[in-house]
This record gives sequence, structure tokens and C-alpha cells, in this order.
Amino acid sequence: MQLQDIVPWGRSFEEYRDMFLLTDADLQKAVLGCGDGPAAFNAQLTKVGGNVISADPVYRFSTQEIRSRVRGVCPEIVREVSKNFDDYIWESIHDIDHLVQVRMEAMARFFDDYEKGKQAGRYINASLPELPFGDNAFDIALCSHYLFLYSDHVSLEQHILSMKELCRVAHEVRVYPLVTLDGSRSQYVSPIIESLVADGVDVSFQKVRYRFQKGADEMLVVK
Ligand SMILES: C[S@@+](CC[C@H](N)C(=O)[O-])C[C@H]1O[C@@H](n2cnc3c(N)ncnc32)[C@H](O)[C@@H]1O
Repeated sequence: MQLQDIVPWGRSFEEYRDMFLLTDADLQKAVLGCGDGPAAFNAQLTKVGGNVISADPVYRFSTQEIRSRVRGVCPEIVREVSKNFDDYIWESIHDIDHLVQVRMEAMARFFDDYEKGKQAGRYINASLPELPFGDNAFDIALCSHYLFLYSDHVSLEQHILSMKELCRVAHEVRVYPLVTLDGSRSQYVSPIIESLVADGVDVSFQKVRYRFQKGADEMLVVK
């Protein structure tokens, strides 16, 4: 994988808490953040004593390399969000300048923690659908803004294999959002559920607190 293929763009711990309805009890558990990229979730949860590992192919790159890629994608993301301004709910994030500020603050927290966390084994270079972890190594696996969102770039087969891999490494899997980049529900939601249910796992949808992309108000929970 080339760095140019990756869109690193990171959210804050508070956004993760709201996207995945994480309770204080959840935050005491062994958590995997899959596709965390430059999000601040790992840095901030670790700071308050959490037990979290992030897995992402972008972690094969150095701080400088990821930082310069973030600088490169930022104008592109700003352009896209501005073009599709009405597809977002501008409440807790007020406008485009505020969006950039919130994301840059979250990513600054990641960059401050990245080298230290890599040495501690908290940032692992790995890609779905194959993760270098044992069966049930985690209580909860979270996947934010990778599966479903990129349905036009990641095939159904890759989605199914990825969901099964997340179910192998964690007792519970939460995925958000279930919409694609254009805000419509991913066409993969139904076939994936069928495939998971056939494996005998429990699948449900839960409304979440997080609101930004219109239509993105649910997470998928697999146990
Ligand atoms: C839009 S970012 C989301 C980052 C973070 N989860 C958040 O919500 O702030 C998408 C992330 O998915 C990661 N990614 C791409 N391909 C992946 C794969 N095969 N397995 C795991 N993560 C992948 C990218 O490197 C990138 O960091």
C-alpha cells in the first residue's frame, strides 16, 4: 500500500465515545481500534489508563510522512465538504474552519503520542482482512470511517472477510458509520448481516449520539 492511497484524517476521543456509545465500563476493557489512522482515540484513552491497541496500514509510515500526507489531503477534504456542505449537520462542529480546527487538534494529540505508542506496541501496522492478533484477544473492536464508508472502493468480499476477522479477534465488534461517502446506506449492510447471522452471531443496530454526516446515526453491533 502506498501512502497516496490512504486518506489519514483523525477524530477525537470524544467523537469515538459518541460514535460508539462507549460507557465507562467499555473503556475499562481491552479495546482494538481498527483503521484508527491519526485519530486521538488511542492517545487520549491511554492517558486515562485505558487498554487500547490501534491497527492501521498507515502505521508503517513515520510521523513526518503521515503529517505531510495529512497536510496534502486537508485541502482536498475541505473542498469536498464545502461542495457538499448541506450533507452535514453543523451543530457541535459549527463550520468548515471549526471542522479543520477540531480535526487538527485531534491529530496533534495523535502525533504527540505516535512514536511512544509505536514503541509500546499500541500502534500496529496491519490491514483488514488479516489482523496479527489471536482469537478473542480483545473485548471490543471498533471500526470508524473505514468499512461501509468506502463501499465504492472496498469490495463486498473484503467487507465480509474483514467483519469476520474483527469477530475472530474480539468478543464484540462495533462499526460506524453504515453510510457511504455520499451519505446513502451502504449496499453491503444487508448481505453482510446475512453472512454474519449465518455464522450464528448476534447482530443489531444501535442509534448513536454522534451527529455530523446526515444519515449517519447508527452503528452495527456484532456479538
Ligand atoms: C478516514 S480514516 C478514519 C480514521 C479514524 N478511524 C477516524 O474515524 O478518525 C480511514 C482509515 O482507514 C485506514 N485503512 C485503509 N485501509 C485499511 C485496511 N485494509 N485495514 C484497516 N484500516 C485501513 C486508513 O489508513 C485510514 O487511517
